[in-house]
Amino acid sequence: MTHKIGIILGSTRPSRISPSIATWLQTNLAQPDLTFDLIDLAQINLPLLDEVEQPSSGIYHKAHTQQWSQLIQGYDGFVLLFPQYNWGYPAPLKNALDYLYKEWAHKPVSLVSYGGHGGFQAAQGMYLVVRGLKMRLLTNNLQLTLRSADLDEQGHFIDPDQALAPYAFNAQQMGAEFRHLLGE
Ligand SMILES: Cc1cc2nc3c(=O)[nH]c(=O)nc-3n(C[C@H](O)[C@H](O)[C@H](O)COP(=O)(O)O)c2cc1C
Repeated sequence: MTHKIGIILGSTRPSRISPSIATWLQTNLAQPDLTFDLIDLAQINLPLLDEVEQPSSGIYHKAHTQQWSQLIQGYDGFVLLFPQYNWGYPAPLKNALDYLYKEWAHKPVSLVSYGGHGGFQAAQGMYLVVRGLKMRLLTNNLQLTLRSADLDEQGHFIDPDQALAPYAFNAQQMGAEFRHLLGE
């Protein structure tokens, strides 16, 4: 049986670096019986949380919430990919998580943060959030350091495969952990 993992792109800026990292993850996490899809919050474009009921009620009045819920229900686990912004995680990612509750609960999740020093503080904050959502945090998480030598003037990787090569083994371990957890 094939299980589906969603790689959620947590940054939405027009010039963001996240698509190149997400594509690299998709390749390097690959495992038999697992598919890794990209879930791009810039395309999904949720407004700031505008539901009347608490998300834990599961009562969704807005079409965008119902569609987001349907999408997330279709996945067995998630990779949250996010940069560090001012020692935290990006607001659109927190907003997208806050929209739902039961859809996240008990599903495996891995955190892939990035920044000048691996996005350590953003990852710390997100550990608490996924615990609050009752998700199953993997032991394999990644903190990617963006080295200026690997970036062009726009802050994009000159060569993503070369820049991210040091993390390839850990990504493969992460994929294997997803497979192990979902094969139980
Ligand atoms: C609003 C903002 C705040 C940032 N704050 C930090 C920070 O606290 N620490 C850090 O290492 N990098 C910081 N950066 C640099 C980002 O890690 C870098 O620009 C990265 O490419 C952002 O991810 P994105 O391109 O996917 O948006 C910040 C960037 C932005 C746009």
